[in-house]
Amino acid sequence: PLHIQAAAIEAIRDGHTRYTAVSGINELKDAIVDTVQKDYGLTYRRDNVLVSCGGKHALYNLFQTLLDPDDEVIIPAPFWVSYPDMVELTGAKSVEVPTREIDGFKLRPEQLEKVLTPKTRMLILNSPSNPTGAHYRRDELDALAETILRHNLTVLSDDIYYRILFDGQEWVNMAMLGERLKERTFIANGVSKSYCMTGWRIGYLVGDAAVLSAASKIQSQSTSNPCSIAQWASVAALNGPQEDVEKMVQIFQERCSYVLKRLAEIPGVTCYKPNGAFYVFPNFSCTFGKSVDGRVIKGSLDLADYLMEKANVAVVPGSAFGEDSCLRFSYAISMEELTEGFDRISRAIAALK
Ligand SMILES: Cc1ncc(COP(=O)(O)O)c(C=O)c1O
Repeated sequence: PLHIQAAAIEAIRDGHTRYTAVSGINELKDAIVDTVQKDYGLTYRRDNVLVSCGGKHALYNLFQTLLDPDDEVIIPAPFWVSYPDMVELTGAKSVEVPTREIDGFKLRPEQLEKVLTPKTRMLILNSPSNPTGAHYRRDELDALAETILRHNLTVLSDDIYYRILFDGQEWVNMAMLGERLKERTFIANGVSKSYCMTGWRIGYLVGDAAVLSAASKIQSQSTSNPCSIAQWASVAALNGPQEDVEKMVQIFQERCSYVLKRLAEIPGVTCYKPNGAFYVFPNFSCTFGKSVDGRVIKGSLDLADYLMEKANVAVVPGSAFGEDSCLRFSYAISMEELTEGFDRISRAIAALK
């Protein structure tokens, strides 16, 4: 959006080009506190906020701060590709728990109970999800809450797609289910997805002040503050008009319907209808075992390679997200590109015998 660009240019002209406080400028922390108050109905203070160099950096800092070797972290699959690697970099173990398409790719309490051990430290929830677009409803979170409290788990709620929700669904996360859950939940978020600012690298954590103070020390010895200019641009993004976000959500929803229609036309392919974000995660296992020119498609990686070579379309194999039956498509591209892409995909899939 133009007003965000203007704020960045103004920041340069005004000389906001020096180091800032490691954990972020107060103006941005206040904008984050206000946004969370407005959108979540939750009250935090400046010292509950740590601004980092992107959502990814926020997550990385939290894992480095909280996790010890041999801790176990529960990651419902399909999951965003970076979680297991980031967790394992700390020496902790990632415990991947497959969820089912018929459950909307959402973790059920009995599945959570089954994998708990005395070493379980954290549960990661990403809603709406990359790659499935699934969003946990209030009753589904409620069902998990009792186990979380009983086992004293920390929750990482990765809310990076929270503004991109379809059909007027309620925005809700674990921290919003009461004070005891708020105390044990860390919110990870950022401006990348909501404001088309992926390259600006501003993300943030909201949660317990003592933990975030420790995380800030880690950040201090790695990156120091996030880019000062991008921080001022993010103040404008959060405090400024939000109409562009609403328009963007509307456009994503239209594209999502189109993508689902095109996928339904491919024989044998099924797809969970996303509740938000800008991805679909269709099941393409009907193509596995088929071949073309002596080349057999054995799984999602083979299929993604084939579509790249034959159709010149980039999709991500489901295996990267812990579910080999599927492919992940992003529809954060124009309708023209989507139409052309699906024409090519349909032809390439039809060629498999
Ligand atoms: C689920 C999820 N979390 C976090 C991130 C990181 O976002 P950022 O670009 O702000 O680092 C992404 C980016 O793709 C994501 O999909």
